[in-house]
Amino acid sequence: MLEKMMQIVREAGEMVRTARDIEENTHEKSNFADLVTKYDVAVQALVREKLLALLPEADFYGEEGEKDAMTKSWRFIVDPIDGTTNFVRHLHYSNTAIALVKDGHVEYAVVYDPYADELFSAQRGKGAFCNGRPIHVSDNDVKHALTLCGSTIYDRSYTDWSFSIMRRLYDLGMDYRRFGAAELDFCQVAAGRCEVFFECCLNPWDFAAGSLILEEAGGRVTQLDGSPLDVSAPCSVFATNGRCHSALAQLD
Ligand code: IPD
Ligand code: CA
Repeated sequence: MLEKMMQIVREAGEMVRTARDIEENTHEKSNFADLVTKYDVAVQALVREKLLALLPEADFYGEEGEKDAMTKSWRFIVDPIDGTTNFVRHLHYSNTAIALVKDGHVEYAVVYDPYADELFSAQRGKGAFCNGRPIHVSDNDVKHALTLCGSTIYDRSYTDWSFSIMRRLYDLGMDYRRFGAAELDFCQVAAGRCEVFFECCLNPWDFAAGSLILEEAGGRVTQLDGSPLDVSAPCSVFATNGRCHSALAQLD
């Protein structure tokens, strides 16, 4: 299953990497900052067809368009292009993310960055990999940590909360980056390149795949109140190398 998912996500990534005429095929969704391009839709259609051919008994839950009713035990959760704003602006930090979930638990995950040609993958209980090589979180403590964050451009009601967390983590000693593609941000922590990633509200397609990759790389992820993630609904995420998860208790 994982091998097949890796082939499919590579095909998707090739569509993303070779895309042309992006700006003239971009539209706003919920607000001016929430964008969709013809490539988001085309990649999802390709991935949907291939994944359901692989496992017809699964539901399909992708970011674009209508969602299945979610009545089956198996479910694919897909972001065809995570980092759409980066994609539209040619910033070359986007990915395609696919998670295969069974009864609410992510069992398989792939995240592919076609620009860096990095394919992150994991199967529950079998470790995490980047281009076939095992990856592991860093052992850095809070004072030597780099934080990745989201923003609140899709819902500004989270702005004060988000910036207060940022400020608190900065005061604890962490520098920060805002890259703009949540699934890849999980993978950077999984690969030991950064120590923390948080965002006040993400959709399941933004975190399902990355959360398994991070856990399989030895990291830890919860919501900001410390409760487990829920792949059936939007939620907050606090994802760390494990050692830095203690910072959660110090956020006011
Ligand atoms: C977005 C990116 C971004 C995060 C947003 C997501 P999209 O996904 O992952 O980094 O801050 O919350 O919605 O819209 O580019 O697929
Ligand atoms: Ca997306």
